[in-house]
Amino acid sequence: MNNEQRHNASRTILGLKLPTDPRWANVAEKSIDEILIDHAYCEQKAASSCISLIIQFPEKEKLREVLMPVVSEEWTHFRMVLKEMDARGIKFGNPRKDDYVHHLYAGMKRGGSREEQLGERLFMNAMIEARSCERFRILSQEISEVSLREFYHELMISEAGHYMNFIDLAKEYLSATYVKKRWAEWLEMEADVLKNLEVRGDRVH
Ligand SMILES: [Fe+2]
Ligand SMILES: [Fe+2]
Repeated sequence: MNNEQRHNASRTILGLKLPTDPRWANVAEKSIDEILIDHAYCEQKAASSCISLIIQFPEKEKLREVLMPVVSEEWTHFRMVLKEMDARGIKFGNPRKDDYVHHLYAGMKRGGSREEQLGERLFMNAMIEARSCERFRILSQEISEVSLREFYHELMISEAGHYMNFIDLAKEYLSATYVKKRWAEWLEMEADVLKNLEVRGDRVH
């Protein structure tokens, strides 16, 4: 897939404003051990973030209903990545600073109503799911090891579903107009963050 096709696919499927730099797939394949370690942390954080939303918004029944199965799925993903690591003799190292998430966090809107605050958390999660989905798609198409391609293909589909879960939840608690406007701002902000991040083959994002 050339860069333009990649760009169009990203825009169409997920609304992302900036496609991943094509150099990323090349460097990522060369350091797939590091990608798997970083990925394991991403799955852990995804599960923990859903648990934290359920705990911090106990009155939101729909949120709980939708996110409880997502917690299980993310934890299953974590175990799947650990299995791939074990098969390759890769050990879990110390957690790394996640610049991508750090910058997104800085772009979250502070204040506003409880629903708007929940919205920011949902957008943050949706954003990470969307970008992960795009990156997993690239890995599923461009790495040479067939079993890993299939592994990332399966995860890409699952993370796309999670992205939709978070956007749908935002629409549950906020007006469609608000979600549309704020999500468009998140997409612009994320493109800016990505544009200014170093292309690193040892990070999922
Ligand atoms: Fe996941
Ligand atoms: Fe996910």
